[in-house]
Amino acid sequence: MAEEIIQVKDLKVHYPVRSGFWNRITDYVRAVDGVSFSIKEGETYGLIGESGSGKSTTGKAIVGVEKVTSGQILYKGEDITKESVRRKMNYNKDVQMIFQDSMSSLNPRKRIEDIIAEPIRNFENLTTDQERDRVQELLSIVGMPSDAIYKFPHEFSGGQRQRIGIARAVATNPKLIVADEPTSALDLSVQAQVLNFMKHIQQQYNIAFLFISHDLGVVKHMSENLAIMHRGRLVEVGSQEEIYKNPEHIYTKRLLSAIPKIDVEHRAEHAARRREIEREFLQDQANWYDADGRVYPLTEVGPNHQVALPKEQIKGGE
Ligand SMILES: Nc1ncnc2c1ncn2[C@@H]1O[C@H](COP(=O)(O)OP(=O)(O)OP(=O)(O)O)[C@@H](O)[C@H]1O
Ligand SMILES: [Mg+2]
Repeated sequence: MAEEIIQVKDLKVHYPVRSGFWNRITDYVRAVDGVSFSIKEGETYGLIGESGSGKSTTGKAIVGVEKVTSGQILYKGEDITKESVRRKMNYNKDVQMIFQDSMSSLNPRKRIEDIIAEPIRNFENLTTDQERDRVQELLSIVGMPSDAIYKFPHEFSGGQRQRIGIARAVATNPKLIVADEPTSALDLSVQAQVLNFMKHIQQQYNIAFLFISHDLGVVKHMSENLAIMHRGRLVEVGSQEEIYKNPEHIYTKRLLSAIPKIDVEHRAEHAARRREIEREFLQDQANWYDADGRVYPLTEVGPNHQVALPKEQIKGGE
């Protein structure tokens, strides 16, 4: 059994909201509000949710670029929410991030060689030749021609830029990559290509991925385990297989029913099912969410399957 590489424990990230003449803190946006899950070595873990549910904030907290309000993120047993721990453990080398928008995440004024070499320079002392060899190797891993090193980001298509982003993220031999909607800006056909590269790299180098997406359909092909997030909390957590086959939470059912069906034969049936689930969601919402519109804590409902059940169904709850 693979070991857990990251354990997120009751993570909260609250952003202060300031207002009025004195610019005082008058409220908090509870972007992440008590989230726990863990990722095993070399696995792709899916984090799914609609816009604003707190996915990126969770990802940034794991990478260490977002200040955590409370909770722990354990890496090799140490809490990396503290900057001193991150520094001591060389955490910035082991954990990398890939972003949705490759145009703004790759420096437009730098050539590809420097873009990919930058993280290597931070952590290793290579000669110019060694460094160039390494960059060429990384480019070939993501299926890019070697003369790409002389070019600038704007000279590539979105899919190619995303592959350059992957090469850069892989450059430091990381243990974990947080991929925040890495393909959602790409055409469907290119999306599949980039996803295949990510899968290939994950398997070849045993890198764990936190794969963030709003699309359950995409995650299905990528991850063994997944967590569904809504309004800063986790709604349902478990194996991909179990969640697709036996979704329990009304929100998960709703997300699943929203995945478009390609086969024409079942389209009408699918549309009817979708309407039924939408109706159920509107009727039952009050049971599944608290007064703040947030789900209740997760309860184990089966092997590797947890659900934020309605209050009256939580064992030992009042
Ligand atoms: N720096 C910030 N200051 C204040 N509020 C923020 C900040 N960053 C994010 N938020 C708020 O926190 C909530 C969660 O944002 P987050 O970006 O994590 O969502 P997301 O799930 O990644 O959404 P999307 O799918 O749109 O990327 C949102 O309500 C957002 O407006
Ligand atoms: Mg986001």
